[in-house]
Amino acid sequence: MSEGNGRGRGDGLAGGPGAEASAEPALSVRGLSVSYGEVRAVRDVTFDLPSHRVTALLGMNGSGKSSLFNAVSGFLKPEAGDVRVFGMSAARARRENLVGYMPQSEAVDWGFPISVREVVMMGRYGYMGPGRHPRRRDREAVAAALERVGLTEFAHRQIGQLSGGQKKRAFLARSIAQGARLLLLDEPLAGVDRVSTRTIADLLKGLAAEGATVLISVHEIGNLAELAEEAILLRHSVVYRGDVEDVLRPEHLALAFGDDSRDGE
Ligand SMILES: Nc1ncnc2c1ncn2[C@@H]1O[C@H](COP(=O)(O)OP(=O)(O)OP(=O)(O)O)[C@@H](O)[C@H]1O
Ligand SMILES: [Mg+2]
Repeated sequence: MSEGNGRGRGDGLAGGPGAEASAEPALSVRGLSVSYGEVRAVRDVTFDLPSHRVTALLGMNGSGKSSLFNAVSGFLKPEAGDVRVFGMSAARARRENLVGYMPQSEAVDWGFPISVREVVMMGRYGYMGPGRHPRRRDREAVAAALERVGLTEFAHRQIGQLSGGQKKRAFLARSIAQGARLLLLDEPLAGVDRVSTRTIADLLKGLAAEGATVLISVHEIGNLAELAEEAILLRHSVVYRGDVEDVLRPEHLALAFGDDSRDGE
């Protein structure tokens, strides 16, 4: 987690100076490749994302979605390529608290002894000093974020004691408390029922309307139209991009999900 930057941003998405005033795309990915030894998970991926929009990254299991997210959020060093967030390096954007990240459920240790409130407070670490003592504005931002995702009454629970949909909302609250401008949400709907899906979809649309740039990964097409305006089809590289309605045409889906000898690498 990054340390305080003293810029005073972070009282909510509508707050801070300037990232969106920049002419730069919110996210710009150029020629990105990610490998694990011999396995090339992401190959030469290039795309830009504008703000005020929810975009889906759609691809089958193993198509490279999480690897791409990890590289974009700076957790994984790419083999090649460049990532710019509002014109900054991914590392700088992270230090500036601009990037909110929801890991895929499988990557989280749900047994960790930490409450829902503490998870959301992690979104404020970047505004605190090294001692990480929350101030009033941090507590207020956390309370507001919990309220917004409807988890106020669960704030004291250990994080693992939430349902699947509630866990997703807790991580979303962390990004909201952070005041992140770019939200990278890895499978925010996996294992989530209809009602929670609707809640999360509405939250994401609301955040985008306030100016956030939201990228969500999904591995199936159910609910896609409800969630995102635009989708990028990923099969290690970008195989198609368009409005959701267009992406859902069978000939386009086949590019990402059809039989192809490129899979299983
Ligand atoms: N830590 C790792 N070490 C080695 N190979 C990995 C590692 N993580 C992922 N891979 C491989 O990289 C490829 C892409 O995996 P990744 O997790 O990015 O896919 P994904 O699209 O997120 O899949 P899912 O829908 O199952 O979450 C797969 O072939 C996977 O086996
Ligand atoms: Mg994944």
